[in-house]
Amino acid sequence: MVTELKRGVYWVGVVDWSLKHFHGYELSTHRGSTYNAYLLVDDKIALVDTVWGPFAEQLMANIAEIVEPARIDYVIANHSEIDHAGALPVVMRHAPNATVVVSKRGLDSVPGHFHQAWKFQAVHTGDSISLGKNNLVFVEAPMLHWPDSMFTYLTGLNILMPNDAFGQHYATAFRYNDQVDQTELYEEALKYYANILTPFSARVTAKIEEVLKLNLPVDIIAPSHGVIWRDNPLQIVNQYAQWAKQEPEKRAAIIYDTMWEGTRHLAEAIGAGLASEGVPFAALYVPVSDRNDIITQVFRSRAVIVGSPTINRGYLSTLAPVMEDLRGLEFKNKVGAAFGCYGWSGEAVKIIEEQLKQYGIEVVAPAFKAKWQPNTEDLARCREMGVQIARAM
Ligand code: FEO
Repeated sequence: MVTELKRGVYWVGVVDWSLKHFHGYELSTHRGSTYNAYLLVDDKIALVDTVWGPFAEQLMANIAEIVEPARIDYVIANHSEIDHAGALPVVMRHAPNATVVVSKRGLDSVPGHFHQAWKFQAVHTGDSISLGKNNLVFVEAPMLHWPDSMFTYLTGLNILMPNDAFGQHYATAFRYNDQVDQTELYEEALKYYANILTPFSARVTAKIEEVLKLNLPVDIIAPSHGVIWRDNPLQIVNQYAQWAKQEPEKRAAIIYDTMWEGTRHLAEAIGAGLASEGVPFAALYVPVSDRNDIITQVFRSRAVIVGSPTINRGYLSTLAPVMEDLRGLEFKNKVGAAFGCYGWSGEAVKIIEEQLKQYGIEVVAPAFKAKWQPNTEDLARCREMGVQIARAM
């Protein structure tokens, strides 16, 4: 349902309740998502972002409730990723005279996706386009989270449209942050940050400082996914500034797989050691845990403790995607350790320990391996490992 955010500014996006897995990145979206597009009606008419291609007709119907689509003068493509730009071809068929406004880097990515001879205008930070009473002002935001990413700000009505930044994969009946369950909202906002923006945290900090220095009044932050921040909109900016510091909580993520329960017993003994020192932990059995939820736990936690039995001189392959995320997301301020059972060769724990070090995680307890099933002494040593890690936090 089209929603008027302020006079002449309309949410014309789509709620996708059925989305449970987000494109090739395989980001789980347990609560669905939304693709937010905004129609700005002034002397000129602008559409800020579109929706994912399969929902293009719904977007067009939403726009048509407000204006004849052929009247659109500008289509702002803040980011070329298909969940926001996928409906561009349909929009441009209805509005063939519109100018597609992109960042300088978008001049590469948007034509690169669609190969159409549309009229393009590239903008830089500080450039503006007059719509009549109000102007659009642009801020390039490279790597938040693609090279082409850009924020669009509407003067007069003080609305910041930062595309993916400050968004959440969160389908709800409502459009605004003050209308939804705050725990759910922040779970999704954190998951989004942890899984997508973590490696760009330094840029998040710099961009927030840059935008705050502009002293733009901000009444509404309208991202391209999830709910729109109208109640204390800067709360999510402040939260991003905090997350970008990567100052994890004094807690642990114990990530493990097991063949015949031995490594699980080690994991539980390590957890008992942590708990005895007052450190909460999540024991994450990888085969039945969502990878992105594991990464969210990692983001929150100061300690990352990884366990696997040895198979074929390595660790169980179920752990590989998580280890790859630990590499790629470049977490800061983590300590960790490796553990696992083995039968005859036992290489897994050393490989895990080496990878943790390579990925910038400070190993604060020697890797521990137990032969066959752990005995009482092995479990006591794992409990002690948990204590040691807790004290090293
Ligand atoms: Fe980077 Fe929501 O797409």
